Amino acid sequence: MSETLNTQKPRIDGALKLSGGADYTADINLDGQLYGYPVGSAIASGELEGLELEEALGMPGVVDIFHHDNFDSTLKHSPNSFAEKNTVSEPRLPFEDTTIHYHGQYIALVVADTFEHARAAAQNVKGKYRANDQVTSQLDELDADNVAGLPGVLQEGDGQSRGEADAAYENAEVTLDHHYSIATETHAAMELHASTATWSGDHLTVYESTQGVVFQRHALSHVFSMPPEQINVISHFIGSGFGGKLFMWPHAIMTAVASRRLKRPVKTVVPRQSVFTSAGSRPRSMQRVRLGARADGTLTSIRHDGSNETAFVGMHNDTVISATPSMYACENVAVTNRVGEVNHGMPCPMRAPGEAPGLFALETAMDELAWQLEMDPVELRKKNFAERDPASDLPWSSNHLIECWDNAAKRFGWENRTAEIGAMREGDEIIGYGMASQSWEAMRLQCSARVTFLADGRLQVSCGTQDIGTGTYTIVAQTASELSGVPIEDIDVRLGDSSLPSGPLSGGSFATATVLPAVKAALDAATQALIDKVTQDGQAFSDVDSESIELNDRALTYGDRSIPVTTLLEELGIGQVTAEASAEPGDEKNDYSFRSFGAVFVEVRWDPGISRLKVERIVSTIDIGRAINPMTARNQVEGGLVMGLGMALFEQTEYDKSGYLYNANLADYIVPVHADIPPIDVELLDYPDYHLNAFGARGVGEIGLTGIAAAISNAVYHATGKRIRDLPISIERLL
Ligand code: MOS
Repeated sequence: MSETLNTQKPRIDGALKLSGGADYTADINLDGQLYGYPVGSAIASGELEGLELEEALGMPGVVDIFHHDNFDSTLKHSPNSFAEKNTVSEPRLPFEDTTIHYHGQYIALVVADTFEHARAAAQNVKGKYRANDQVTSQLDELDADNVAGLPGVLQEGDGQSRGEADAAYENAEVTLDHHYSIATETHAAMELHASTATWSGDHLTVYESTQGVVFQRHALSHVFSMPPEQINVISHFIGSGFGGKLFMWPHAIMTAVASRRLKRPVKTVVPRQSVFTSAGSRPRSMQRVRLGARADGTLTSIRHDGSNETAFVGMHNDTVISATPSMYACENVAVTNRVGEVNHGMPCPMRAPGEAPGLFALETAMDELAWQLEMDPVELRKKNFAERDPASDLPWSSNHLIECWDNAAKRFGWENRTAEIGAMREGDEIIGYGMASQSWEAMRLQCSARVTFLADGRLQVSCGTQDIGTGTYTIVAQTASELSGVPIEDIDVRLGDSSLPSGPLSGGSFATATVLPAVKAALDAATQALIDKVTQDGQAFSDVDSESIELNDRALTYGDRSIPVTTLLEELGIGQVTAEASAEPGDEKNDYSFRSFGAVFVEVRWDPGISRLKVERIVSTIDIGRAINPMTARNQVEGGLVMGLGMALFEQTEYDKSGYLYNANLADYIVPVHADIPPIDVELLDYPDYHLNAFGARGVGEIGLTGIAAAISNAVYHATGKRIRDLPISIERLL
């Protein structure tokens, strides 16, 4: 079955989206609905001593204003447990106390009859503050060579260290020791976060733009002390999330409380500025990498010490060292990560958390080592290829990194590179070539799904996961179609509803590997339920051993006998047959290490006369196991590469010395636009990884964003001779 599940297929929801028919959260309007608009703190650290509300309360259409003194005091913290599926982004409840922990922290929610009225009134709510002086962290001092006695949580790398990294470094023939930093980034998904809450008796329905309807249902159930069955979270279409919508944010709680109090639906669309201040970021990180090697390039020591900022309102370890222990065959590896608190909004996972920042440092350091050794950077990596996972000492489930390096180099034309800085020119431009390795862990979780044979021949597939724009609807339909013989147009996929059988977050690149086995299990169960009915006395297959009956091409077959499912349902006199089933990983993690790998090559052009840097082209070869849909999979890699280009050259959430986030909009927070995006050549290798699941798919959402920033900085060095270890590589850093 899975052999043919590797076909290009446009998104089945594409036409609906392009024609405006897709119901994104902010598009949903309920009868009698009111509008919430949040007010954010003007300071980053201090006390909220009071609110001036009178003027706002008297403005047109204003119904109520919620804040610390009149909020719901019965709310409870979610346990914030990933295993129990109730993780929240910001553990602090909205308006919980009057301490200000970051600029933009919600201090009030205005509710009015229209969006415009709510917004106008919100602009007239004034906070009275007592500001503290100290707002920023000692992250610079937290940097790993100077940590003694400083605050911060130290993680010694979760036991991932091995050998004697320090001793091996001291004895190495060639050594390198450099510091790297990456600015705070904001997810800046096109679609704003939004939440609409409505109560019916003691039942709460929340329409939310979320990467996890099931997680939000469980989190709400703890916050409101209600059984999960009384809460439903709906998210049919999502204009991307990149991790910023994985877990519930305070606006959803504020909105649900307001709706309960006012006994009307309330919709809050989080303003763009608040998305920046109060809905997540990839935290600023500092990294130090020390490499020791023999003169022939063999790595003898890797020491990678990372640190990242977190907020005072919650702990987020960005694990920038996570990929390092598995990347190269090296006997002595030590990794640590430290976390320091700052008066910024809560950080959270952002696409390829850990790997994207971590591989910027490691893969830039590898390039620096190659120059020191006068080796080709591809050859240096090949010299240190890990035949098995050196971190776990397990064999790889499947690893074609060497082919990634070779293929991408060939497609790119790496053999044309001159190993000399600034030597490749065309007209006024200096050409730089750079490359890096890419990697992302492959995961699979438990999942349930439901399949229903309908009387009209359609097949309905339901799962409580969601499609954040990546193509989940499409690959579920492809899979169900492939397994059942029902044409893809006749597959009805239901996602984005927490009342459906429990499905995974759309995150971690694990949705595909997690959901498809559950779809198969549910289809098998529904088929069996149908077979059980048609083998009863008087039915079409009553004379047949039920184990010999198969589902083929929309019909049950036994030998020459083939009866369409629609006919069977009609004969049975029932409208449908339905079944729910679950699938979960086995113990394969004890036997294999699961990672995806890739290689990315970049050409940059530097025009020193006009100080213009541009990325000219990108080539990436990726090994993700089997791509269920190479069209949407390639699309994911391309998106990751574009986002990595932004990380390398533009993205920077900026705070002033008082902690004020001053580029909280899409004009001043720079992301790549079409003019910045070069031709991108993505090659997907096709080596199904059947150790992970029967479909051979390892997932694809994040790997494209790994390595690319290093490849760009390495190309910039080749062109300019300037080694930029701090992202973004803004023009000032090249002058
Ligand atoms: Mo991804 S950071 O798991 O949305």
